[in-house]
Amino acid sequence: MTEKIKVALVGLGNCFSGLIQGIEYYHKNPSQEIIGIIHDKLKDYSIYDIDFVAGFDVGENKIGKTINEAIYEYPNMVNWIPKDQMPKTDAKVHESPVLDGVGIWVENRVKPIESGKTNEQLQEEIKKILKDTGTEIIVSYLPVGSEKVTQFWAQICLDTNTAFVNCMPAFIASDKEWAKKFTDKNIPIIGDDIKGQVGATIVHRTLARLCDERGTKIEKTYQINVGGNTDFLNMKEQERLVSKRISKTESVQSQLSERLDDEKIYVGPSDFIPFLGNTKLMFMRIEGRQWANIPYNMEVRLEVDDKANSAGIVIDAIRLAKIALDKGLGGPIIPASAYLMKHPIQQMTDPVAKTELEKFANE
Ligand SMILES: NC(=O)c1ccc[n+]([C@@H]2O[C@H](COP(=O)([O-])OP(=O)(O)OC[C@H]3O[C@@H](n4cnc5c(N)ncnc54)[C@H](O)[C@@H]3O)[C@@H](O)[C@H]2O)c1
Repeated sequence: MTEKIKVALVGLGNCFSGLIQGIEYYHKNPSQEIIGIIHDKLKDYSIYDIDFVAGFDVGENKIGKTINEAIYEYPNMVNWIPKDQMPKTDAKVHESPVLDGVGIWVENRVKPIESGKTNEQLQEEIKKILKDTGTEIIVSYLPVGSEKVTQFWAQICLDTNTAFVNCMPAFIASDKEWAKKFTDKNIPIIGDDIKGQVGATIVHRTLARLCDERGTKIEKTYQINVGGNTDFLNMKEQERLVSKRISKTESVQSQLSERLDDEKIYVGPSDFIPFLGNTKLMFMRIEGRQWANIPYNMEVRLEVDDKANSAGIVIDAIRLAKIALDKGLGGPIIPASAYLMKHPIQQMTDPVAKTELEKFANE
């Protein structure tokens, strides 16, 4: 029997709630197994082989609860499985340092616990929890703009020999210096910024590549995204968005044979519409020219549950981090990062990245 992959989660918001409730959904509906999963198995690991052994957050209403209770706490809004039907777990939510985790727009929704512990005390406490729980992989679902908190957790990974899956756009796996630290210590890292299953980025980059490969010239393109959860509320703070914009824009630019001038491409989270909840709407337009310089354009409207979108990919990232650990490999895991993340250290086309990822997993 395959041993369970021991994972700790940082940031128990809507994305993690969707990930763990999704696993329970498949448990309760085994006949649905093949719907919504790219890889039923990766090497020997199925989606049931993941054990979430600890959680870390700042919310006073989440800390101290078990992770299966905390995921239902305000302001989370994923309710795919009724709370009383989630299995019991001993895994608890512990305190993470606040640092730059809570932005101005969400501070009336996320109330950090006031324990009076210093960051140094928390660092020691966290290391002990990771050791006691046998954590092998840390997954970060921190809010956009949490640059310092992400670096804190990356350093924890380096200090404790724990693999890192970075689902948000603070650049660690794609930053040369951080990547080198993970390579030097032979610790696997997959990142940065998860590329949703059928999200705005994969749709936009696939269509942009199609237009490019078919010999047309793209002249302008935009992608506007709106949603109604805390992620979108937080992203109203423009200063927190710098790396998110780079991550999303570069993901599209990387698929073009010739880069578009900066003023010809706009990609970004654009507004918060409260009643949308976890529904994300994406509006995309490409304008270009084809045979005989004749203009064309296309528009796409995508409506998708933002949380299902992230979970369907992170479930693979966790298993691939474990496979890297099993193989004794460290540093950025390139094909996994290129296929699953928007901002990897090395971009590839998606079909090539998928083939390489499967070769990596199964050889
Ligand atoms: N949905 C997708 O497809 C997708 C794609 C790419 C990236 N992401 C990213 O994933 C991340 C998580 O998204 P979400 O919707 O779950 O966000 P969320 O706002 O629902 O959850 C964030 C969680 O982090 C916690 N937190 C805040 N500061 C913290 C700190 N210092 N330490 C530990 N925890 C802290 C909050 O209390 C909250 O529980 C975001 O950065 C989002 O942009 C999501």
